[in-house]
Amino acid sequence: MVLPITAYGHPVLKKRAEEIEKNYPDLHTLIEYMFETMYETVGVGLAAPQVNRSIRLFIVDATPYAEEDKHAENFKKVFINPEITEEKGEEDLFKESCLSLPNLSEYVSRQPKIRIRYMDEDFNEHEEEYDGMVARIIQHEYDHLEGILYVDRLSNLTRTLLKRKLKDIETGKIDPPYKMLFANKKSKIKT
Ligand code: NI
Repeated sequence: MVLPITAYGHPVLKKRAEEIEKNYPDLHTLIEYMFETMYETVGVGLAAPQVNRSIRLFIVDATPYAEEDKHAENFKKVFINPEITEEKGEEDLFKESCLSLPNLSEYVSRQPKIRIRYMDEDFNEHEEEYDGMVARIIQHEYDHLEGILYVDRLSNLTRTLLKRKLKDIETGKIDPPYKMLFANKKSKIKT
């Protein structure tokens, strides 16, 4: 099932998401729907708040970047209750986009290497180090769990220049390329 994507301005995208337990209801179905949704919307990562669940879960399939980065090939993973324990290296710039901010992409500065601790879909614990495209995607998705969007990481000047476009997304004055959930007074956040 393809789920609607929460649009910039939706309160769930501003919240710090909550950890989950192994018995979280219908977890495997949710993960399956998230993969279907990510492939349908042509994303390389999707975080639970983007499908209106304020829980610490995101998925990644970096395969579309395989030509630029061989480690991206078949990199398909589920991250539950993740914690980035280290980020290192000199910051570099890469043009990021986000399913919650359609038709927009901007250069974002991030450190290139990370260490992350997380559980997989069977709640086995892992601790791994990544760099390149995979690290970049993980950092972007991890931010979603902290209530941070890549536009929050831009300079004030860039954000000012984007103000109109952001307002249009927030108020639903766009033609969304896929089903989206816009902010309104009735927005209900599920955990
Ligand atoms: Ni995103």
